[in-house]
Amino acid sequence: MSDLQYVRVQWDAELATVTIDRPDKLNALNSDVVGELGQVFGELEDDDEVRGVLVTGEGEKAFVAGADIGELANMSPISGVRISREGQRIFNQIERFPKPVLAVVGGYALGGGCELALACHLRVASENAQFGLPEVGLGIIPGYGGTLRLSRLVGLGRAVELTLTGAMLGAEKAERIGLVSAVYPREELLDKAKEFMRRITKNGPLAVRMALESVYLAQDSGSASVLSYESTLFGLLASTGDMQEGMTAFLEKRKADFKGE
Ligand code: COA
Repeated sequence: MSDLQYVRVQWDAELATVTIDRPDKLNALNSDVVGELGQVFGELEDDDEVRGVLVTGEGEKAFVAGADIGELANMSPISGVRISREGQRIFNQIERFPKPVLAVVGGYALGGGCELALACHLRVASENAQFGLPEVGLGIIPGYGGTLRLSRLVGLGRAVELTLTGAMLGAEKAERIGLVSAVYPREELLDKAKEFMRRITKNGPLAVRMALESVYLAQDSGSASVLSYESTLFGLLASTGDMQEGMTAFLEKRKADFKGE
């Protein structure tokens, strides 16, 4: 991956870790960071070795402390719409990424940072993590899909409360309301996050991909078309070597060796 200033990618077997590397600004999302995230996810999508992606922020203090307020401060209504649409486009790209994406939140996940975590398929956090949508305190609203995604995840009442108060939520409470799947000590966060992810990547990659697709389609469509699509994908998987291997391995009482074919 070339020409990246603010985003790093590291590979560990089948997992890629994408790190937002702007710690002096608590990894705030300026337009370059957002663009680089789009570039990186575009390239990882085509990388057949990668079966899952972790997204994290550099440093002890923050996952991402929001969109870059310095950039937003000068926006006009027209450029505001453009900035919001561009953020939505990249975050949709992450949400529609065909392999599981886990946000690894070690500190502040505020504003656009919280929205980035929400756009990932799953979230784990360190004990010191803080989530929040403080935009209303800046006179704006979440503009990268947060008004849609938060209520989908934690329910309307909690979402309205968090969006309108702008209050921060600690990791323990975030886990209680279903915003994160697990909380780990800060020093173990990345290792535990990889362990968490490997509970997914040990499974058939085609099945994981289609399960993701079906679950997300269910968010956006009526149940009849979702059920119909689910059946189509279910049937399609019967043509794969992965299904043969998965079921044969179970019957032979051994571990499956999936090839993604
Ligand atoms: N945009 C731009 N810069 C940001 C930023 C953001 N969203 N969040 C933090 N920074 C910068 C600070 O301006 C500061 O830069 P400086 O050292 O050049 O002055 C640096 O990151 C460190 O932040 P600082 O505020 O000194 O750290 P803190 O520990 O005192 O406070 C926060 C941490 C997260 C509570 C505080 O930085 C904050 O409230 N950030 C904004 C959160 C927000 O409103 N996000 C939504 C934006 S739409």
